Amino acid sequence: MSKPEFDQYAEQYDRMLGEAIPESLNEDGYFAEYKVALMAELLGTHPAARILDFGCGAGRSLPCLDRYFPDTELWGYDVSPASLELAAERTPRAKLFSNWDEVAAIRFDAIIAANVFHHIPPPQRGEALARCRDSLAPHGQMFIFEHNPFNPVTRRIFERCPFDADAEMLTLETARKLAGAAGLNITRCGYTLFFPRPLAFLRGLEPMLRRIPLGAQYYVQLGK
Ligand SMILES: C[S@@+](CC[C@H](N)C(=O)[O-])C[C@H]1O[C@@H](n2cnc3c(N)ncnc32)[C@H](O)[C@@H]1O
Repeated sequence: MSKPEFDQYAEQYDRMLGEAIPESLNEDGYFAEYKVALMAELLGTHPAARILDFGCGAGRSLPCLDRYFPDTELWGYDVSPASLELAAERTPRAKLFSNWDEVAAIRFDAIIAANVFHHIPPPQRGEALARCRDSLAPHGQMFIFEHNPFNPVTRRIFERCPFDADAEMLTLETARKLAGAAGLNITRCGYTLFFPRPLAFLRGLEPMLRRIPLGAQYYVQLGK
């Protein structure tokens, strides 16, 4: 059997990502943190005893999840064992798995999939989302974050990134249809990352811009 694609990128993942993003726009920590911060905000006062980072890769979101949800069990699943080794170093308390059978019986209050679905071939996306749906607790919420293919800067970064060579971005509309086909309800969705670092002082306006399809990424919040 061939190795999972991301095993070959695990060690160089952060460097490759950094090199694909123009220096003036790169905010490594912010890109990882904003997703977790938004997820925490959208979950509000819903208690989350257990969170799954689906497609956690080398664990870029896990330290943020650790900070925002210090009392929550953190789980990570990825098809790339080499990436999980790095994730384990970053967040030792996270329970990490590359075999879905070991995770399938657990029910999660929240699941985050950050930039994962564009790496899953379109015919397999429905099955991957169905896995997440089945793993949600009855009141559970799932958060998909994806690149917005309508944003020209996102497109440029995507084209420069070696590990995106075989990936296929999906629009917010496609993500919505995928969710509907998996029997999930859309709680909220919207575009994010409108203002690059030089305009960071305008970021407080982002919640008012969620419907405008120009942000660099988008999120979809789903429930059963
Ligand atoms: C661009 S990386 C994102 C990693 C991490 N979520 C982050 O934000 O840094 C995409 C990840 O999706 C994983 N992946 C690809 N297909 C998958 C699948 N069917 N199920 C779970 N993870 C998958 C890859 O192994 C890779 O680690």
